[in-house]
Amino acid sequence: MATMKAVRIHDYGGPEVLRHEDAPQPEPAAGEVLVRVHAAAVNPIDWKVRAGYLKSMIRYPLPMIPGWDFSGVVEAAGNGVTEWKKGDEVYGRPDLGRDGAYGEYIAVRAPEIANKPKSLDHIHAAAIPLAGLTAWQAIFNVGGLSAGQKILIHAASGGVGSFAVQLAKWKGAYVIGTASARNHDFLRQLGADETIDYQSARFEDAVRDVDVVLDSLAGETRTRSWQVLKKGGILVSILGPPSAEEAARYGVRAGSLLVQPNAAELRELAALADSGKLRTIVETVLPLKEAARAQEINQTLHTRGKIVLQVV
Ligand SMILES: NC(=O)c1ccc[n+]([C@@H]2O[C@H](COP(=O)([O-])OP(=O)(O)OC[C@H]3O[C@@H](n4cnc5c(N)ncnc54)[C@H](OP(=O)(O)O)[C@@H]3O)[C@@H](O)[C@H]2O)c1
Repeated sequence: MATMKAVRIHDYGGPEVLRHEDAPQPEPAAGEVLVRVHAAAVNPIDWKVRAGYLKSMIRYPLPMIPGWDFSGVVEAAGNGVTEWKKGDEVYGRPDLGRDGAYGEYIAVRAPEIANKPKSLDHIHAAAIPLAGLTAWQAIFNVGGLSAGQKILIHAASGGVGSFAVQLAKWKGAYVIGTASARNHDFLRQLGADETIDYQSARFEDAVRDVDVVLDSLAGETRTRSWQVLKKGGILVSILGPPSAEEAARYGVRAGSLLVQPNAAELRELAALADSGKLRTIVETVLPLKEAARAQEINQTLHTRGKIVLQVV
């Protein structure tokens, strides 16, 4: 059996359970492609899975390979795949229920990937799929954001937030972002119209009549967010469904989502990146074997943009 280098977990736990080791090289089943991974982005879901927080939701056979964001090159196509061939440069957010991208190869379903942005290297392309699709699906598909509306984006300098700010601005919305003061110039460069320092101000004192709130923090931030919405506005959470009763009490709506693979949206994101309308911010690049360190940094909850693992 062919082997590859991968980072796997054999049990749930702290960063120390991530092992850089030899693992079986996956084979593409019918309808799948085998991708030589060049870069894999790190997302909070990676360390949440590693720690076992999701084990009642997703039953992984162990050992498993985490990481659900990649950019790479098609190595082989499985039976029935006509749209991809060896050498195609692709990116994607693979199925959360299967082995991920912290390895030299990944087998993915052919319809779930797209050509990576031509203007970006693999490191910057890998940073887009999971966070970019989440931002897209949250603010457009669930939030229904349109030109001229006002959006409040929490954690606007993070992985999801930094894409959400740019996408909302591209759509023609008025964008307000929360982050600590060190990130305010950064948020303005991304297109934010207003910035709020969550460490020195209460956003609910500064903001009102918002059409859409993007909630990526939950807890008391979510509780305090209802009041900034205009009647009929919507709070979209990416951290579990908000209370319908609470929404009703404020005369607003509540939505939530778990990001889904979507090739058409990946193509839109690639086109925006190639036209210079969507920037990818990569704060840290580490080699694959330093995945544990990458997760430790991400777990501080203060990443600006993305952390990416270089595989090739
Ligand atoms: N439902 C889904 O499908 C889905 C998809 C993607 C992500 N998520 C979840 O969404 C959350 C965010 O993901 P992410 O990748 O964007 O995280 P991230 O990149 O780790 O977010 C880090 C950012 O959060 C900011 N931040 C921290 N505390 C804050 C606060 N109290 N108020 C405002 N900003 C704050 C930090 O800014 P400062 O450094 O300035 O504090 C930092 O830039 C995670 O819990 C993740 O698991 C869910």
